[in-house]
Amino acid sequence: MAKIKKIITNSSKETIQVGIDLSQNLKKGSIVAFLGDLGSGKTTLIKGIVKALSEKKDINVNSPTFVYLNIYDAKTPIYHFDLYRIKDKNHFYSLGFEEYFSCAGICLIEWSENILDILPKDTIFIKMTHQKENQREIEITNTF
Ligand SMILES: Nc1ncnc2c1ncn2[C@@H]1O[C@H](COP(=O)(O)OP(=O)(O)OP(=O)(O)O)[C@@H](O)[C@H]1O
Ligand SMILES: [Mg+2]
Repeated sequence: MAKIKKIITNSSKETIQVGIDLSQNLKKGSIVAFLGDLGSGKTTLIKGIVKALSEKKDINVNSPTFVYLNIYDAKTPIYHFDLYRIKDKNHFYSLGFEEYFSCAGICLIEWSENILDILPKDTIFIKMTHQKENQREIEITNTF
């Protein structure tokens, strides 16, 4: 059964903390699909995950909008996708990216709206909504 958890944050620092907390539940093969508009806080939450799991403390985390994928060094490698410019699943397949779903890393996927129908069954979904200037709602649907 999927569990749904809703969290409201009132600063980017609080959203980073949600990422740090969530990182404890991630392991080899985990796939986290982010949903939500521009500026809703997807990369901010990912900063928390990477900060908690990475071996390098000063790692730079940004949306890989033009290159689609950033890879961060960690005990379990982290694959950070931004699919804003990926048109559809065929475009995704043509770049060979589905291989990452079955590799020994953690996949964090911004703009997963563009490949929704090919995400594996045990994907964790994080839907982010801009509520007020510094307020975001974070809805986590998981199968932990
Ligand atoms: N509660 C909050 N949680 C997260 N970010 C917040 C919050 N309040 C304000 N912000 C600000 O909102 C912006 C969120 O930007 P971020 O890059 O994380 O969004 P994004 O969803 O990744 O956007 P994009 O689709 O363009 O990649 C940042 O400038 C951040 O400082
Ligand atoms: Mg982003």
